[in-house]
Amino acid sequence: MITLDDLDFNGKAVFARADLNCPVDKTTLKVQDSPRMAGHAKTVRELSDKGAKVVVLAHQGRKGDYDFLPLAQHAVIFQKHVGRQVKFVPDVCGSVAKNAIKSLKPGEIILLDNVRNLDDEKNYKTIAECENATIVKELSPLCDIFVLDAFSVSHRPQPSVVGFAAKTIVAGREMQAELEALARVSNPKRPLVFVMGGTKPEDSVGILNDFLEKGKADFALTCGVFGNLMAYAKYGKLGAESEKFLAETNAIGHLPKAKELLSKYPGKVMVPGDFAYELGGKRKESSVLPCDGAIMDIGAKTAGAYAEIISGAGTVVINGPAGVYEKDEFALGTKTILGAIENSKAYSLAGGGHTVSAIAKFVHDRKKIGYISLAGKALIAYLSGEELPGVKIVMDARIQ
Ligand code: 3PG
Repeated sequence: MITLDDLDFNGKAVFARADLNCPVDKTTLKVQDSPRMAGHAKTVRELSDKGAKVVVLAHQGRKGDYDFLPLAQHAVIFQKHVGRQVKFVPDVCGSVAKNAIKSLKPGEIILLDNVRNLDDEKNYKTIAECENATIVKELSPLCDIFVLDAFSVSHRPQPSVVGFAAKTIVAGREMQAELEALARVSNPKRPLVFVMGGTKPEDSVGILNDFLEKGKADFALTCGVFGNLMAYAKYGKLGAESEKFLAETNAIGHLPKAKELLSKYPGKVMVPGDFAYELGGKRKESSVLPCDGAIMDIGAKTAGAYAEIISGAGTVVINGPAGVYEKDEFALGTKTILGAIENSKAYSLAGGGHTVSAIAKFVHDRKKIGYISLAGKALIAYLSGEELPGVKIVMDARIQ
């Protein structure tokens, strides 16, 4: 791969695809700082130091979700990490964005708006299709070098990730660090315990199936919204509020696949057996479904059982928290699991924006976590042996 050491960036218009997708407070819509900001800031600062005119591309959330937001707040947080001005441009590839790019001076940095504002920023089958998308057609003439720093989106065959493949593709410092660390764990010690939580069951279900099919995991501990989907598949009920949530977020569409996972891998896929839900603003626990309120965490018994399995692991991969850990009452599951990982002898790999933030909050000695990736699903897809389109363009890169 070509790295930041290999080229002269002085005076060049350098597009840097970062992943500034951060947790967002659902009530205030305030973007929370995340280690991703500090991670990508290193690359952007170095490019600026080298005299590049830096254009940062990034996304936040997915259209239709509460956390799908403009990147104005991100620019404010990001510039604190970069240590110099990062100007937010409220446009992706129209005349406002183009003029901002053309007026950049060496060392200056701009952050364009959420690339997912564009309807054609979506998954395609081929890189050629991505090359035809609006952002590439409009901005490619203004780009000298494309730095792909976001390993965490490299599993997405999307225009802002792989559409600039005809340019000289450079691995940013974050991408370089991820690939170098992952090369060291290509043959994990067994048993491999996979903790799969978080809020994107639509991704989790496929990835877990892939992992188990290839014999790469010995146990999967399901939790978070994904755990709720698995529990619904197993018990046929959750309670009105949690069932409504699964329906509203379309997670319910993945119920047949969740059921298939349970029948294909009995004894390997663990499903929560007790739950913590919210009633009158307080944590209540129950091992009987349906629950009277929205399920926000795994119950204490499940957390204990999962901790026990983790204590016997050779390798633990964790992707996604066990519950709404941002609220103290619902942090128990995530805290217990992270505590078990911290205290186990297993080599551990952690990924996912929320997981990384939870580690920052709850893990006392971060050195006890083998490797903390800024990626979530990309990490898991990579570990399951998939070829990631973003990694492919970085590895195939030639100086143009
Ligand atoms: C992530 O948070 O894992 C990345 O930013 C990718 O986000 P996506 O799953 O919405 O593509």
